Amino acid sequence: MHKRIYQIKAKILANAKVRDNYFHCLLQAPQVAGSALPGQFVNIKVSSGPEPLLRRPLSIHRIRGAEIGLFFEVVGEGTRLLSQRKPGERLDIIGPLGNGFNYELPVTNYQLPILVAGGMGVAPLVFLAEKLAQIPMSKSQIPIALIGAKTKSQILCEKEFQKCGCSVKIATDDGSAGFKGYVSDLLKKILQENKRTREQENGIYACGPKPMLKEVAGLAKKYRIPAQLSLEEHMACGIGACLGCAVKTIDGYQRVCQEGPVFAADRIVWQK
Ligand SMILES: Cc1cc2nc3c(=O)[nH]c(=O)nc-3n(C[C@H](O)[C@H](O)[C@H](O)COP(=O)(O)OP(=O)(O)OC[C@H]3O[C@@H](n4cnc5c(N)ncnc54)[C@H](O)[C@@H]3O)c2cc1C
Ligand code: FES
Repeated sequence: MHKRIYQIKAKILANAKVRDNYFHCLLQAPQVAGSALPGQFVNIKVSSGPEPLLRRPLSIHRIRGAEIGLFFEVVGEGTRLLSQRKPGERLDIIGPLGNGFNYELPVTNYQLPILVAGGMGVAPLVFLAEKLAQIPMSKSQIPIALIGAKTKSQILCEKEFQKCGCSVKIATDDGSAGFKGYVSDLLKKILQENKRTREQENGIYACGPKPMLKEVAGLAKKYRIPAQLSLEEHMACGIGACLGCAVKTIDGYQRVCQEGPVFAADRIVWQK
């Protein structure tokens, strides 16, 4: 299916610090809002001047009518500049880009979505949770959202997942909240305890650091659960031209910005 991609000057409606280095940005972007799917992203010209040259990719975090929400962490110059943009200004964005999560699987009484988010990996998964909340499901199908963070103060979007009706479980590396350990270890524990078979699972949807995704892929294989992973690679063009974001898959190298960012877990060839 041909997907339309827009380059627009989106009006900034809000851009505010949520806490620490985390920001919410709300943009008026009816074209993007009207067609974006969870897991897709926008590529942003973060400043109004010529520098930095390269755009920065951010996941679409939520959609409210004609507005799109972004949730980002300031980690370097690009995100710092973005955090300084003011409501009323226009932001040059291209999107929606990439292939998102396939979540419209046939829903039966036995299917259960498990969302696994590590750190900023929450960003696209909240949008997915909002979409899942629109699908009629039975009580046994309430999505589980696993959120991983280093420590309690870094847990992100717990309330957002709860508002979408997810059963939220937390994992912190230091044990300051919820399960002590990595979010992939929490997933392992849940899969071990539940002893679900492939037929009873809808699937795993994960986004986070690569080592986490690799663990999730291993568990999905072991328990024969279909899993979709959203990868985050450094990007240059963001539109499939430079090959800078290629990852190894069983079908050869594929571009995270074009064939991804969401890939079936069993297609990724993990490099050491
Ligand atoms: C498809 C996609 C969706 C993304 N969605 C979000 C999101 O919703 N929210 C969010 O906060 N971030 C997201 N990111 C990551 C975000 O694009 C980077 O943090 C941002 O580009 C960094 O730009 P910078 O100039 O601030 O930092 P830089 O100065 O470029 O880098 C600062 C640090 O961040 C690391 N880094 C930079 N880019 C990436 C990347 N793409 N993946 C992993 N590490 C990186 C660098 O190695 C360096 O250590 C996404 C990335 C991709 C590819
Ligand atoms: S960033 Fe250029 S091909 Fe993906």
